[in-house]
Amino acid sequence: MSSGEVIDVVVDGERILHAGAGTARGVDGAEDGSGKLLLPAFVDGHVHLDKVLVRDELREHDGTLAGAIGAIHERKARYTVDDVRSRARSVIEASVQLGTTRLRSHVDVDTIGGLTPLEGVLAAGAECADIAEVLTVAFPQEGLLRDPGAYQLMEAAIEAGADVVGGMPHWEVDEASQREHVGLCFDLAERFDRDLDMHVDETDDGGVRTLEMVADEALRRSYIGRVVAGHVCSLAAAPQDYADRVIDKCLRAGISIAANPVTNLVLQGRQDRGLVRRGVTRVRELRAAGVNVLFGQDCIKDGFYPFGRGSMLEVALISAHATHLTSRSDLAFALRAVTEAPAQAWRLSDYGLKQGARADLQLLPVPTWEEALRLQPMPEKVWFKGRLVAESSVVSNLHRSN
Ligand code: FE2
Repeated sequence: MSSGEVIDVVVDGERILHAGAGTARGVDGAEDGSGKLLLPAFVDGHVHLDKVLVRDELREHDGTLAGAIGAIHERKARYTVDDVRSRARSVIEASVQLGTTRLRSHVDVDTIGGLTPLEGVLAAGAECADIAEVLTVAFPQEGLLRDPGAYQLMEAAIEAGADVVGGMPHWEVDEASQREHVGLCFDLAERFDRDLDMHVDETDDGGVRTLEMVADEALRRSYIGRVVAGHVCSLAAAPQDYADRVIDKCLRAGISIAANPVTNLVLQGRQDRGLVRRGVTRVRELRAAGVNVLFGQDCIKDGFYPFGRGSMLEVALISAHATHLTSRSDLAFALRAVTEAPAQAWRLSDYGLKQGARADLQLLPVPTWEEALRLQPMPEKVWFKGRLVAESSVVSNLHRSN
């Protein structure tokens, strides 16, 4: 555990039977993790598996969100289910090897790609059901009013197996359309009894304020604890009084914030000169207010971000740099942002190192979480539903002359 506490964990089938002081050592089949760090497997609460690994095939663009969306259009039109399935599968497998066994993937639902991205990611999730759990979010990347026909495709996506209703209200052309977009997403979620996970205000423009529309709608419909707002970059650029007001509404609505600093560090602030904004939402204020904040990988080698490898340890490290997390309690917050926080956003009751939780675990070859962040080791072992699903060992020799 991150605290340095020594515990025994007993697993029975898919579940943790016991986690705490005990006498499991010496038992047949017991694993000795002395001096190592046992953590629950990571949860990637915000990733786009349909887009991963397409970067080499895209034209160059200006590096902005709009530039990336435009560059992906042509490639998205050529997606096939098998193409998406294959790319998504390789990232799911890599993620498991790096300690992540639960992923929530947004998948584009629009009139360019239709349901092909969803079908591809669903196929990859089914192929990987023995090593990971993949949830899908129907994501209207091109807008709902800006892209006539997208709403009907969103309905079809939910009927075809998408787990969560997504959204992208700030992408609409004016405030009235943004408000209508938010209402449509909530209508869909209520009709199908689904949670919501929307892309919200992924812009440097502090005048764009769809987060408040989302929070107001969640409060009005009593959709409490069922909404995630992703990115939320503009909150950083908005005036303090707005930020204070909307953070309070998020808290009251039980909205989780998926800050994705890894991508937004390179995507936002492109027009700034001199002091360049970080493009990251107000993590410090959200945390202080008690809002549930998670960190997601978001992108892997796609039009938005050229890096990424499905490592939530890397995501936590980069996010720690972006959001000034350095003290011991800060680093514990970074751990929570890739474990308990996304689990809370998913409303999981069976997550963690506790009795009755699903035995999704990882063993890291370091004594503490702080050392895991600093040294970025691969987990030696990863378990999914109690079964060992990945092992790794690194051999590195230093050849001295004396
Ligand atoms: Fe995203």
